[in-house]
Amino acid sequence: MYKKIAIFASGNGSNFEAIAQACANGRLNAEVVLLICDNPNALVIKRAEKFNIPVFKFEPKTYANKAEYETEIVQILKKQTIDLICLAGYMRLVSEVLLNEYEGKIINIHPSLLPTFKGLNAIEQAYHSGVKITGVTTHFVDKTIDGGKIIDQVSVAIDNCELQELEEKIHAVEHELYIQTIKKLL
Ligand code: GRF
Repeated sequence: MYKKIAIFASGNGSNFEAIAQACANGRLNAEVVLLICDNPNALVIKRAEKFNIPVFKFEPKTYANKAEYETEIVQILKKQTIDLICLAGYMRLVSEVLLNEYEGKIINIHPSLLPTFKGLNAIEQAYHSGVKITGVTTHFVDKTIDGGKIIDQVSVAIDNCELQELEEKIHAVEHELYIQTIKKLL
């Protein structure tokens, strides 16, 4: 039986694509059944179309509050049995509306060795801090920013590389780690 994954993303979508590709080529015994996207202009939507993955696009500012749009998202998700929700560059905190239904089944990937360098621009934060080693973390999602229980971590040496080079190294590690974490959880 294929497991069903829903992915939430806001932007580029390279992690979305890595997961969709791993499902398509059989590396993951799963199917990405839905992309939830809060930015109608995001590149990730084009990537979903390429894989024929249905997209729910929404604009948060057209809702009264987070509870209202998350209630709609939960209704959409509950039309099928979702085994795992993967946040992949989803630039919003989730609230109890989603967590009440799916806590323990929502995971995220973050480009640092948590609990250091939480929040935005984590790769730059690490780069400019002077640390020699950074990395990638997968973790369960709770109400906090990048604060849920850690699942897996991989370190990445900063050495003398330029910021852009470090970003490329981190993203390559992310794509592999996310697939391994998903495989383990499913
Ligand atoms: C990744 O660095 C991920 O760790 C962070 O947001 C970024 C999303 O990149 N949460 P992409 O949209 O998957 O290319």
